[in-house]
Amino acid sequence: TAGALVDRYGRVARDLRVSLTDKCNLRCTYCMPAEGLPWLAGPRLLTDDEMVRLIRVAVCRLGVTEVRFTGGEPLIRPGLVDIISAAAALDPRPRLSLTTNGIGLHRLAPALREAGLDRVNVSLDTLDRERFTRLTRRDRLSDVLAGLAGAADAGLTPVKVNAVLMRGVNDDEAPALLRFALDHGYELRFIEQMPLDAQHGWDRAAMVTAEEILTTLRSAYALSPDPAERGTAPAETWLVDGGPARVGVIGTVTRPFCGDCDRTRLTADGQIRNCLFATEESNLRDAMRAGADDDEVARRWTAATWGKRAGHGIDDPTFLQPTRPMSAIGG
Ligand code: GTP
Ligand code: 5AD
Ligand code: SF4
Repeated sequence: TAGALVDRYGRVARDLRVSLTDKCNLRCTYCMPAEGLPWLAGPRLLTDDEMVRLIRVAVCRLGVTEVRFTGGEPLIRPGLVDIISAAAALDPRPRLSLTTNGIGLHRLAPALREAGLDRVNVSLDTLDRERFTRLTRRDRLSDVLAGLAGAADAGLTPVKVNAVLMRGVNDDEAPALLRFALDHGYELRFIEQMPLDAQHGWDRAAMVTAEEILTTLRSAYALSPDPAERGTAPAETWLVDGGPARVGVIGTVTRPFCGDCDRTRLTADGQIRNCLFATEESNLRDAMRAGADDDEVARRWTAATWGKRAGHGIDDPTFLQPTRPMSAIGG
């Protein structure tokens, strides 16, 4: 490789998260308003070829070893399967994963596997149909459950399930979600809600903390420390009832893992973000369209990485939520 993506604190970004679209077919209340958002206009979006070119630069020149596709909802990008095939053909071949809401996954899973996708993470916050409909504003729970099963059948494993708990909405469901995951062989992770919603309605006091989640789970299950190395994973994991099954908690807010962060991000409109909470972006789309060669693109990516902040700063009195919502950054 020509270089590595290193920041001034010595962290190395080897995990690229690519947002393939800012659009979504759900409207989760903690993410976006019922009417949706002003989506990125077509010409601003990277084409499939531009997307693949940037992934190639990251993998072949900048030391990225893991590529995760996110959104919005990545399954609604028409070129998804072709982008994955192209990424899987790179040398060295990166590990490839996808984070999805699961809608349409049942139908797509075999083609995704065939294209070279290794594994998926699926968001699922409740198992109750009415709650699901209220929370996501769409009556699609059965599609998500079918998607999970389809992913497991296609070998997109380990299948991980992401659940965001909200007080008074679904925080009573933690043990039931874990039961469901254990029964199906999925690895469940609970996520602390972050201030990244389009409505700017996040409230620290309403957030269900990692501590609370663990206390609730321990009322129903014995949790013991997972002997596996955590590495740079955002999830802290525990063995459930002695293992081998595990459960994870992603405590971004109260147990930040910024010191071990190994991520770099590419948005659907071709901006590099060195952090979920970054206030600046680096415009690789316009650089490419103005004729920048791969050396120049790599140089800009390296420069954009150097200035990455030490941590998310959510607890700082001066904290400002990024102007882009999570759906446009890529989770
Ligand atoms: P694996 O553990 O490798 O499967 O991936 P992951 O947990 O990083 O990915 P996923 O897309 O499932 O993300 C789960 C949650 O972790 C989401 O809420 C993400 O926003 C959050 N997350 C992922 N990367 C970061 C990050 O760099 N910083 C913070 N603060 N949260 C992150
Ligand atoms: N805070 C925490 N997690 C969030 N997600 C979406 N918005 C937020 C938020 N504000 C979750 C989704 C998905 C993952 C990528 O991020 O539910 O599982
Ligand atoms: Fe990395 Fe920023 Fe996430 Fe912290 S908040 S883990 S620095 S991306």
